[in-house]
Amino acid sequence: MEKKKEGFGSKIGFVFAAAGSAVGLGNIWRFPYLAAKYGGGIFLLIYLVLAVTFGFSLMITEIAIGRKTGKSVIGAYKDVDKRFAFLGPIAAAVPFIITPYYCVIGGWVLKYLVVFTTGAGKSVADEGDFFTGFIGKWGQPTLFFVIFALLTALVVIFGVQKGIENISKILMPVLLVLIVGIAIYTLTIPGAMSGFKYYVLPNFKGFTLTVFLKTLVAAMGQLFYSMSLAMGIMVTYGSYMRKEDSLESSVRQIEIFDTAVAFLAGMIIVPAVFAFSGGDPAALNKGPSLMFITLPNVFKTMKGGQIVGGLFFFLVVLAALTSAISLLETIVSIVCEKIKVNRVIGTLICLAYVLLVGLTSVFGYSIWSEVKIFGYQFLDFYDFVSNNVIMPVVSLITCVLIGYFVKTKFVEDEVLYGEEKFGAKGLYKVMILAICPICMIVILISNFFLNL
Ligand code: PHE
Repeated sequence: MEKKKEGFGSKIGFVFAAAGSAVGLGNIWRFPYLAAKYGGGIFLLIYLVLAVTFGFSLMITEIAIGRKTGKSVIGAYKDVDKRFAFLGPIAAAVPFIITPYYCVIGGWVLKYLVVFTTGAGKSVADEGDFFTGFIGKWGQPTLFFVIFALLTALVVIFGVQKGIENISKILMPVLLVLIVGIAIYTLTIPGAMSGFKYYVLPNFKGFTLTVFLKTLVAAMGQLFYSMSLAMGIMVTYGSYMRKEDSLESSVRQIEIFDTAVAFLAGMIIVPAVFAFSGGDPAALNKGPSLMFITLPNVFKTMKGGQIVGGLFFFLVVLAALTSAISLLETIVSIVCEKIKVNRVIGTLICLAYVLLVGLTSVFGYSIWSEVKIFGYQFLDFYDFVSNNVIMPVVSLITCVLIGYFVKTKFVEDEVLYGEEKFGAKGLYKVMILAICPICMIVILISNFFLNL
């Protein structure tokens, strides 16, 4: 059963769809807590450098592979070079790991949306006891996780993506405006300015090789996650892209949009941590719970914060939903293809899988909090394995494939299709042939020494 390929009708449609997948919890929830934890300005600087070099090179490679082969991830690598057929399934494994826990966090955001819209937003603002109390018991997190997963599955089954896409086109800019507004407001809270400085000014005091490697590993993992790279998603999106649209400028636009949202989310959350805790290292190190603890505090001090908070969490739910849909969609199409079932059955199978595996993440923070895998709780473990292990492996092998087997000309030709020039060709070559692979090897090796 060959699914008829529908392409994107316009360049802007493609950019929006890819940005809809890219902009999600990674930008608003994950980026700020990593920035807070890994030294603020230093993390930001490293991330930005990686985004315009690595992010750009890897995204253009993946989209070019997709557009040239016209296939989704499993078939695409095989088409590029038979010997690299194994890469497809490895990349495809990533969305299987991410989707379940993504829906768990989607559930947390949903809970906050409900709290804010029912007028109880103020009760959430405290030292974080509300949040730890919430995820520390399994009942409610399970309920909201199941609702979020069901919503995602419904969209995938009924294929109302078009609707969602159209809504996102309007609401994503609203999210952007709201984030800018809240960021400006946050900076006016007493004590926030020192947080802003921490966030944008790199401080090299105590910056050792170990710190550098840790930051690099974290920033790289974040880049993959945030831009939906090294997991086959951009290959699939590329296969839907029109030949006549410019690859290079599309990638630039997606990249700028994604990075801007992440930067702005950090600009709210990091200064807010300073305002409410005075930059206490324990508060900066809160990890995945950070957004849920600091944001309600911001809204509490704000006039009309209840409404702004409700609107904010609504838009975050939406951003999370568009990303979750693209994740689920990917695994559903793989399952349908592999075991030859129709879309509804395929989605139900995947939903059952997501619920089952997602529960381990829910329990890992509550009734199974004693259980650790290599020192990580379930959710953090899934996050680590996908972002810091499998994705670097996938991009390392992709670089070797493109750089040394089929040669960079493969991608260059695709970028140049109908275009006058490939502006960043020099940078691209250096990245794929040398810097990316070396960096991936460094990351993989340091993972063993730093984390395990
Ligand atoms: N990039 C998305 C985010 O930042 C997450 C995601 C990863 C979505 C992979 C789709 C695929 O939240």
